[in-house]
Amino acid sequence: MRYASVGLVLAVHALFGSAARADDIDAGQAKARSCAVCHGPLGVSAAPDAPNLAGSPALYLASQLRAYRSGARKHEVMSLMAKPLSDDDIVQLAAWFAAIKVEAKAPR
Ligand code: HEC
Repeated sequence: MRYASVGLVLAVHALFGSAARADDIDAGQAKARSCAVCHGPLGVSAAPDAPNLAGSPALYLASQLRAYRSGARKHEVMSLMAKPLSDDDIVQLAAWFAAIKVEAKAPR
C-alpha cells in the first residue's frame, strides 16, 4: 500500500511538553551531553544499536530510566548509565528528550 507523502508532525510534545518546565528542559539538555555519543546531540540515534529518544513521551523515558536504575530493565550500557542518576536527573533528561520536536514522514 502506498502512503501519501504527507508529513505527520507529531503533536506529542505539544500535548505533554506543556507539563515540562523550561528549566527542567534546559538542565536536561546539559546533562544529556553524556548521552550524545550514542543517542545523538538531539536524541536521534548516533549508534546502530541505540534507539532514538527525541520526541518520546517523557513519562515513558523516565520510567525506562528508573527501570534501568532499579535493575527491572537490564542492559550492559544503560544499566551503568542510569545507576548514578537522581530522580531529578531523570525528570530533567526525560523533559529534554521529550521536548525535542520530531517530524515523521511516510517512506514514500
Ligand atoms: C554507549 C552508548 C549509550 C550511552 C552513552 C547512552 N545510551 Fe541510552 N541506550 C543505549 C542503548 C544501546 C540502548 C538500548 C538498550 C536496550 O536494549 O535496553 C539505550 C536505551 C535507552 C533508553 C530506552 C529507550 C527506549 O526506547 O526504550 C533510554 C531512555 C536511554 N537509553 C536514555 C539514555 C540517557 C538519558 C543517556 C545519558 C545519561 C544514555 N541513554 C546514554 C546506548 C547508550
